[in-house]
Amino acid sequence: MRRFGIVAMVLWLSGCHAGETGDTIAQPQDTMAIGEDIYHKFCFSCHAAGVAGAPMVGDKDAWSMRSAKGSDLLLLSTMEGMPPGMPPMGLCMACTEEEIKAAIEYMLAASQ
Ligand code: HEC
Repeated sequence: MRRFGIVAMVLWLSGCHAGETGDTIAQPQDTMAIGEDIYHKFCFSCHAAGVAGAPMVGDKDAWSMRSAKGSDLLLLSTMEGMPPGMPPMGLCMACTEEEIKAAIEYMLAASQ
């Protein structure tokens, strides 16, 4: 029984490694890391200090109002922008939809 457990463990570990070199499905930690990176490169300039009325990261109340809209609407308004304060794509013109989504998720998670 014990031996079986070890074999299963080895198989499981090797399976994980195979996954890393192939097409991996993004894990939640990866999403957070990507989001954090983009946030610090593009969104931080406004969302850290609340420039032009931007909801500040860490301001729970400001973000609970926004997140009540639902993640689809937040994604849409981030990609299209909210004139005059919020620029389309949060200025990350090369970002993919997934990356913008990750940045929003990071800001929401950091504001709870
Ligand atoms: C030039 C300043 C600026 C930058 C850069 C910026 N934002 Fe914003 N953002 C704003 C402002 C201002 C608002 C508030 C707009 C309003 O309510 O009219 C806002 C609002 C938002 C909202 C709330 C949208 C909603 O529907 O209520 C999200 C989500 C958001 N920004 C995400 C991002 C992300 C992600 C980035 C980086 C990729 C980013 N922002 C970069 C200024 C900025």
